[in-house]
Amino acid sequence: MKAAVVGLGIGMAHAAGYLESPDAELYAVCDLLPHRLQRVGGTFDSGSMLCLKQLFDEALLTKTWQEIGVKIFTDIDLLLADPEVELVSICTPDFLHAEHAEKVLKAGKHLLLEKPADIDLDAAKRIRTAIQDSGCRFGLGYEFRVNPAIEKLRELRISGVIGEVRAISLHHFRTPFKHDKWNNWIQQRVFSGGLIVEETCHWIDLVRFLSGKEIDSIHCTADSGILPETDFEDAVFINGTYREGGVFQIAHILTGFDFDLKIAVHGSQGTLWCALKDEPYSILDNGETSYCGLVVAGQPGMAREKVQRWTWGLEATEPWNIRELVKRVAESAAQGVEPPAGIQDGIESLRWAIKARECTI
Ligand SMILES: NC(=O)c1ccc[n+]([C@@H]2O[C@H](COP(=O)([O-])OP(=O)(O)OC[C@H]3O[C@@H](n4cnc5c(N)ncnc54)[C@H](O)[C@@H]3O)[C@@H](O)[C@H]2O)c1
Repeated sequence: MKAAVVGLGIGMAHAAGYLESPDAELYAVCDLLPHRLQRVGGTFDSGSMLCLKQLFDEALLTKTWQEIGVKIFTDIDLLLADPEVELVSICTPDFLHAEHAEKVLKAGKHLLLEKPADIDLDAAKRIRTAIQDSGCRFGLGYEFRVNPAIEKLRELRISGVIGEVRAISLHHFRTPFKHDKWNNWIQQRVFSGGLIVEETCHWIDLVRFLSGKEIDSIHCTADSGILPETDFEDAVFINGTYREGGVFQIAHILTGFDFDLKIAVHGSQGTLWCALKDEPYSILDNGETSYCGLVVAGQPGMAREKVQRWTWGLEATEPWNIRELVKRVAESAAQGVEPPAGIQDGIESLRWAIKARECTI
C-alpha cells in the first residue's frame, strides 16, 4: 500500500512507521516549509521534533527525500490527484483536520488522521459522514492506546483481576508547547482549541479506553495564569462520572520541566498503577529507575511479594508509540482489521473535551 504523509512535524514519526511497515511503503511527503522537504533530517533542526530523530537510521537523515525514493509535494491537492497514493497520514495543525480529512476521503484514499479529530464537533461529525460515504478505512492518532504499558493495563482490566473499574485517576505533567510549530499555531486557541481540546483529548480517550465505560458527566476547573505565551488554560483539573457507574479524575499541567504520566485504575477487587516517563533515567526520580513504562497490579492488604510488576524501555515512549500506531493503521487499511482508534473515539473525546472547556470560559 503506497502511503503519503502531509505535515512533517510529528508526521516524521508517521514517515518512520511507513518506512518500517510490512503493509505499506512510504511513497510521498507533503509540506509547506521548504526546509522540511529538502533533507529527510530537515525537521530535526528546529527542536521539538528532535525526539523523533532516533526513529531513523542516521544514514537516511542527510539524504534528500528523492534520494530515498520518496516524492515531494507542496500542494495537498496535487498529492491527492496522484492515483498511486492509497493511504494518507494527515499531520497538519488541528484546525485544518476536517478540511484535509474530507479531501483525502473524497479522493478515495484510506486515512490516518492525527488527533484531535478537529477543534469543532460538527466538523468531526462531517469526517464520520465522509468515511461512510467513501468506504475507506480510517484510523485516529491516539497512540497511547498502543503503548505497551497501557495495553497491559487494559488487558489486566479485561482479565477481571481488579473486578469492576470504579475509579480512574490520571495525572500528566509536561513542558510548555514549543515555539517551532508552523506559524505558532499551537499557542492560539483559535487554531488548536486550547490545551483541553489539543491534548487533554488523549487523557479523555484513555479514561474511556481503560475503563471500557462511557462518560456520563464532566466538570472542569482551570487556570491560565502561568504561561504568558498561550491564550488558553495551562493547568486543568477535570472530574467526571461514567454512565455505567464510577468516577474519574484528570489533572493536566502544561508548566512543567519534564514528562510524567501517572494512571491508577481502581477496581472493586484491586488496583492497577502505571507510570510513564520519556527517558529511562529521569530527573523526576533522581535518575534512580531505568524504566520508561511501569505497571503494578495489587489488591488491598496483599503481601508485598505478591504484587505483580512489569517494566518497559523506550518502546513505552511516545515516538515509538506513534510509529507503532502507524504500522497498525497500515495493517488495518491493507488487511481490513480494526484500527486501535476510530472516528467515534475521536468524536466522543472531542465532545467531552469541549464540554469540559465550557466550564472554564
Ligand atoms: N499523537 C500525538 O501525540 C501528537 C503529537 C504531536 C502532534 N500531534 C498532532 O499532529 C498535528 C501536527 O502537529 P505538529 O506538532 O507536527 O505541528 P507542526 O507545526 O510542527 O507541523 C505541521 C506541519 O504541517 C504543515 N502544513 C500546514 N498546512 C499545510 C498544508 N495545507 N499542506 C501541507 N502541509 C501543511 C506545516 O508546514 C508544518 O510543517 C497536530 O494536529 C497535533 O495535534 C499529535
